[in-house]
Amino acid sequence: MATKKKTKKSKLQLVKGMKDILPDEQKYWDLIRDKVDNFAHNYGFSRIDTPIVESTNLFKRSVGEDTDIVSKEMFSFETPGKDKVSLRPEGTAGVVRSYIEHGMLNMPQPVKLFYMGPNFRYDKPQAGRYRQFWQFGFESIGDDDPVIDAQLIIISYQILRELGLDIEIQINSIGDAECRPQYIKAIKQYYQTNKNDLCSECSKRLLKNPLRLLDCKVKGCNELAESAPQMVDYLDDDCKNHFMSVLEYLDELDVKYNLNHRIVRGLDYYSKTAWEIIETDESGKLHALGGGGRYDELVHTLGGRPTPAVGFAIGIERVIIKMQEKKVEVSKRKGYDIFIAQLGIEARKKALKLFEDLRGAGFNVVESMSKKGLKDQLDIANKKGTLFTLILGQKEIADETILLRDMDSGVQEVVNFNKIASELVKRLKKIEEKNLKAGK
Ligand code: HAM
Repeated sequence: MATKKKTKKSKLQLVKGMKDILPDEQKYWDLIRDKVDNFAHNYGFSRIDTPIVESTNLFKRSVGEDTDIVSKEMFSFETPGKDKVSLRPEGTAGVVRSYIEHGMLNMPQPVKLFYMGPNFRYDKPQAGRYRQFWQFGFESIGDDDPVIDAQLIIISYQILRELGLDIEIQINSIGDAECRPQYIKAIKQYYQTNKNDLCSECSKRLLKNPLRLLDCKVKGCNELAESAPQMVDYLDDDCKNHFMSVLEYLDELDVKYNLNHRIVRGLDYYSKTAWEIIETDESGKLHALGGGGRYDELVHTLGGRPTPAVGFAIGIERVIIKMQEKKVEVSKRKGYDIFIAQLGIEARKKALKLFEDLRGAGFNVVESMSKKGLKDQLDIANKKGTLFTLILGQKEIADETILLRDMDSGVQEVVNFNKIASELVKRLKKIEEKNLKAGK
């Protein structure tokens, strides 16, 4: 007798660092999307969607070849046509490429754009850190006025405040190509004399990306960074005046902000204003929910005419984790108004068509066509919180009527099938007026 060979099937599961967004979590995403859309509309930002895949060179030239993001964290590959491409690790580079490629420099400036989409970084996964994560971001390209920096800061701040989070802005100026070299020289000197106290990563950073030394949280480096020279002392007049103006605008607005000389950001394209949006948890630990800054050189670096710009991005999963921790109340999408119940095959056919007609006419309607019994269907209608259930059975088909059940009172009335839409409009309007009066 032939023996059956046991083949062990490997369990299929999420790729490390990835995350499903399940139906229960969607209410947070809906709320954030709505909030972002509203802010964008009020502040005059237009939506842009750029591809997830871009040429690897775009990120090397913008984010910077020596940054952790580009040197260690990109998902890069070669296409069958031998193009070297990467999954975008952030959104700004693609937006700027698009701005240049589509001649947006010829539009009235600044061009104000916003986006929302997934990004990819091959980072070490942990709470609030994924390999695919979503950001929304706002970019204003084409104006160097500090009032624009202040406006973007207030947008980043207020969106999160209105989502129920208690956050603060930590802000710094990292100067520009004129004055930053002197500061980098001072930083290098300072760390050279303390070289032995640096972690191994920072010893490398000292050669390649000395500003990032200020960002290291390893104990020894952290202590050194606290007493390191500060960029504000090296700003030239232009950068200093710009920074002072941004702070003055912020003083006029209701923004909780703190100066922090260690905000240098992990991407190379920044100049002048840099900020992070920080949440402090109960144990006093700081969490960056977002960050941004000016990037006045980037359009030029990527081949466009020199054009100042400023923007920010916020990590959506991190925001949702905080909203859940804080138990921020998020109501589900508006419930359904009408449930359609059917009994028997003929009724089901007619119900399918009625559902489509009512849905197409703009009614907020729901069904459960695979259920057969009336009790099951009414249970679902109750769970969905519908106001009315329409019931179609053999008798109603024969009489060309339909039963209209008020789910609150349980009262059922026979309505002429052809008049059901106008009857529903009447009744829904009455409920709306009643709710309005009651201030609901
Ligand atoms: P970023 O600071 O690299 O800036 O990212 C912004 C936010 O994205 C972070 O504060 C964090 O909330 C979220 N984030 C980053 N990496 C992860 C991860 N692995 N898992 C979960 N969330 C993450 C930028 O990306 C710039 N493009 C921001 C910008 C726009 N600057 C100017 N315009």
